[in-house]
Amino acid sequence: MRVLLIGSGGREHALAVGLAADPSVDFLAAAPGNPGIAQVAELHDVKVTDSAAVAALAVELSADLVVIGPEAPLVGGVADAVRAKGIACFGPSGAAAALEGSKAFANEVMAAAGVPTARSFACTDMVAVRAALTELGAPYVVKNDGLAAGKGVVVTDDLDEALIHAEACGKVVIEEFLPGPEVSLFVVTDGTAVAPLMPAQDFKRLSDGDEGPNTGGMGAYAPLDWAPADLVERVLRETVEPTLAEMRRRGTPFAGLLYVGLALTPDGPKVIEFNARFGDPETQVVLALLDSPLAGLLNAAATGTLDAHPPLAWKDGSAVTIVVASHNYPGVPRTGDVIEGAEAPGVIHAGTARRSDGALISAGGRVLSVTAVGQDLRGARQAAYALIDGVRLDGAQYRTDIALKAVEGRI
Ligand code: AMP
Ligand code: GLY
Repeated sequence: MRVLLIGSGGREHALAVGLAADPSVDFLAAAPGNPGIAQVAELHDVKVTDSAAVAALAVELSADLVVIGPEAPLVGGVADAVRAKGIACFGPSGAAAALEGSKAFANEVMAAAGVPTARSFACTDMVAVRAALTELGAPYVVKNDGLAAGKGVVVTDDLDEALIHAEACGKVVIEEFLPGPEVSLFVVTDGTAVAPLMPAQDFKRLSDGDEGPNTGGMGAYAPLDWAPADLVERVLRETVEPTLAEMRRRGTPFAGLLYVGLALTPDGPKVIEFNARFGDPETQVVLALLDSPLAGLLNAAATGTLDAHPPLAWKDGSAVTIVVASHNYPGVPRTGDVIEGAEAPGVIHAGTARRSDGALISAGGRVLSVTAVGQDLRGARQAAYALIDGVRLDGAQYRTDIALKAVEGRI
């Protein structure tokens, strides 16, 4: 099978490693990719949101399967353009990707499907915002309606801060605060059949102790030994299946990766957000533990044959990933810093680039992540932090407490 992967982040590097390891893949290209992905795929330059260019590249490369990593091309309908050329594509249509592209749309679908989630109000003016904040009370949850790379949400006890963020958002969603530990569940689907992956936990805040601003994600681990045994089955029944049914009913079936971000509240798992693609950095740990060939799985979802796919196989042990971000992330990141030690196995590239002299330099906010597998979570955690010791980047920021509470049984 000839596969073209679209994207250039850590998630795509992890996907590329998984795709390259699948014996059914005899050719792997990535666009635009990054220096880490270049180790396993042929790189092509393309603007990922340019539907016509992506579709033309897929034709030129005689791709059998296109895998779209990031949300922006999905929301922009790039998967539709690829499928219009008769090429199988892993990733939802633009209409279905609105589950991620608009929080208000996702809330409307969840309400219609009876999915457990936060009470919410979609607001377009400050009078409505004030009324919603008063009705729901603190802590205030204020979300930009559209795509914001994980940075559009403010959770605060401070009413003024909530109002300032709401004002800056324009179209904004005010939500009830959901208490409880967060879980990311990835479900591969062809629109009807489902293959849930192993739940993982992400660390959204920049700093240790869940302090500081929200980010795209600063680390992750799996499996979640502390989670209820029936978690996946319950979320499939209460959330995933009704949502997929509602999307089919609307004539816009969701096929691809449904990312369910959950809070495990005292009243059960409730949806915090849907995404239309693999999470970053959770993908790094989930794929490190997946033992089934990745391209076969994604191709089954892309071709509507997931019900015939064998059950997924998982490796024993645990995986931990730690993100290394550049100076000033999640603000405007400083780029161009030289990175050393990033060729080691287990280092996943995200915002990296080659300088003209060949040196590896930082080129984005989240620069790389280190991923390690161990017999247990403690071992995986130690191995991941040992990998970080081998990486040098001036001004680097990373958390020192990824997976720590879970290791200590404090969740
Ligand atoms: P999102 O971009 O929707 O994933 O939100 C980013 C982060 O904000 C989440 O991972 C949560 O930590 C927090 N968050 C978002 N919505 C809520 C909510 N309704 N209740 C509690 N925390 C939330
Ligand atoms: N790690 C969170 C996300 O990918 O949205």
